Amino acid sequence: MSQEPSRGTPYWDPYDDDLRRSPYAAWQGLRDDAPLYYNERYDFFALSRFEDVMEASLDASTFSSAKGVTLDTIGTERELASMIELDPPHHDVLRRVVGRWFTPRAIGHLEQRIRTLCAGYLDPLVGRERFDIVGEFTARLPVMVISSLLGFPEEDHDNLRIWSDAQVHREDGEEERSAEALADSDKLHGYYWNTIVERRANPQNDMVSELIAAEMEDLDGTVRGLSDIETMAMIMLISIAGNETVARLLGSSAVVLSNWPDERRRLVEDPSLCDNAVDEMLRFEAPSPTQGRYVARAVELHGQVVPEGSKMLLLTGAAGRDERHYERAHEFDAGRRIDRHLSLGYGAHYCLGAALARLEGRIGLEEMLARFPEFHVEPDDVEYVKTNTVRGPAMCPVTV
Ligand code: HEM
Repeated sequence: MSQEPSRGTPYWDPYDDDLRRSPYAAWQGLRDDAPLYYNERYDFFALSRFEDVMEASLDASTFSSAKGVTLDTIGTERELASMIELDPPHHDVLRRVVGRWFTPRAIGHLEQRIRTLCAGYLDPLVGRERFDIVGEFTARLPVMVISSLLGFPEEDHDNLRIWSDAQVHREDGEEERSAEALADSDKLHGYYWNTIVERRANPQNDMVSELIAAEMEDLDGTVRGLSDIETMAMIMLISIAGNETVARLLGSSAVVLSNWPDERRRLVEDPSLCDNAVDEMLRFEAPSPTQGRYVARAVELHGQVVPEGSKMLLLTGAAGRDERHYERAHEFDAGRRIDRHLSLGYGAHYCLGAALARLEGRIGLEEMLARFPEFHVEPDDVEYVKTNTVRGPAMCPVTV
């Protein structure tokens, strides 16, 4: 249950099951009454207003990613730092290697492949009265897309999804991963490692082989390839970041479009709105609502000093509902004109896979609604993923 110290006192606990399901009232309390929030139990600060989150995202020298970006890891030494856990300029060296592989143009060719995958999952559901849209569709699609892109064979994709889900799963009230999750993590690492070794010997036409062949100009001006560790970290990052988030975005879409039937009908009547609706969905139900940072130097915010060494959470999910920035922030409006949102991050770490997320989101929505223009989700039946990083349904029964 939510632990609210007293009525009206702003409180938010990222490990609380109830608040994970429904964080918006708590985040509103933070935005209005504790714009710089401090949680004693877990010893972290949080920013929740749009302007604050945006500015902090741009200030990497104060709000560093180099000591972990999730609450349970901030302040610990990184064993295998991927670029999401590096600050500029080191981060930018690695980002330049992969940036051009993920532009809208570079990933545009995946449109038909994604549509075919959607049909493969959704067609067998037509005619059924009730099914779990996450288990049957939204959790399966992204792992297939990203694993195909990286070059992992199809027969391995289900295992990769299970192992990668375990990376972000946390039991209630637990900050650490379970023994089972750690074992899955070892399997995932072993799989990636074997793939690197195999592609070094036999390059293929895929991203792992391209990473192995890539060259970059390092900070001292030397040109070199990626080390095995850097290759491994990049593969892990792309694979995990690309699987979990898209699965939750499309899962949340089912919940939201059941709660907002007029907006659903609007999309059914005019599927060209799906493109815009994906960004509105990202704003409204951010799949990755908290970005962790390490406070690298003391900073004053809202009249209070945040000491060097503190843990800071940037609540991009709360920023998406900030009435100071969005009119009718708590309404889902598929046609809303959105100047910007922070749900794909902001600044140096802006989501590498943003174009792919939007492509999968748009096609996923179009294909879902083409088959199921009318459906209902009972909110109490939805189970949410248990993680302090990603937010969205782990199971979402849909009645057609
Ligand atoms: C709905 C889907 C997605 C959401 C909501 C999302 C969200 C985010 C957010 C908020 C960040 C910033 C993290 C930070 O500032 O610490 C980020 C970074 C990143 N995302 Fe995504 N993401 C999505 C899909 C994807 C996909 C499909 C990929 C696959 C390539 C991907 C790969 C990455 C990578 C590699 C980074 C780190 C970028 C860097 O450090 O420069 N994401 N994402």
